[in-house]
Amino acid sequence: MGRTALVTGGSRGIGAAISKALKAEGYDVAATYAGNDEAASKFTEETGIKTYKWNVADYGESQAGIARVEADLGPIDVVVANAGITRDAPFHKMTPEQWNEVIDINLTGVFNTVHPVWPGMRERKFGRVIVISSINGQKGQFAQVNYAATKAGDLGIIKSLAQEGARAGITANAICPGYIGTDMVMAVPEKVREQIIAQIPVGRLGEPEEIARCVVFLASEDAGFITGSTISANGGQFFV
Ligand code: CAA
Repeated sequence: MGRTALVTGGSRGIGAAISKALKAEGYDVAATYAGNDEAASKFTEETGIKTYKWNVADYGESQAGIARVEADLGPIDVVVANAGITRDAPFHKMTPEQWNEVIDINLTGVFNTVHPVWPGMRERKFGRVIVISSINGQKGQFAQVNYAATKAGDLGIIKSLAQEGARAGITANAICPGYIGTDMVMAVPEKVREQIIAQIPVGRLGEPEEIARCVVFLASEDAGFITGSTISANGGQFFV
């Protein structure tokens, strides 16, 4: 097939499952990470997927990192903006630092990731932009004013990019995972997590691979008529 895919936050959690699933489909995959060198080299050793370190919140670093990926693997055809963090706190306790950190990484990080690859996609008349949003961008969440704002923002981004990319063969879609069994969800206090699982009709957390399979579909040629859409993969916890 010979297509190249970039997955931010692609060496851990949902991102790692996405990187592996795309590689299994024949893509040349580059996975970015922010800080955990050890986890990244272990991931590369185990999977053969190249990892690149940069801070998605920084435009210059993203631009330089993407140039390195394209020099190594060729033009990026599929970009998966997956990197994200939580800094949960009830609004009355949320600090400006907690607000800014989440906005910079989760929301500005999407701009910084997609903007440098967009001109090449337009020129080549093909592209797949896939943003990993969240159920909590759709429904809101106690203690996540910052995170929910970014995840709702993702939906505005893909709906706008869908309109701009349509004539250039570029689709832009979002996936809204529900609660998936990753480090991020495991960091929620156990008692709270049990309450959350009780609200999921299928009665369990999702698996990272269940999100990865949605990405593989949206990245495929077969999904060319789907743009500006959101796939909700949340075990029936919330319907839009
Ligand atoms: N709804 C209503 N009230 C709630 C609540 C909820 N969901 N969660 C907590 N409260 C209440 C508490 O019962 C408590 O009430 P009282 O003061 O009357 O007892 C009050 O809020 C404040 O509680 P705390 O003082 O314990 O608050 P805290 O400052 O210690 O913060 C917390 C605790 C951060 C809210 C913690 O409970 C938590 O992490 N909750 C989970 C938040 C969550 O779901 N995050 C999602 C992470 S996973 C993710 O984001 C991935 C994804 O995309 C799905």
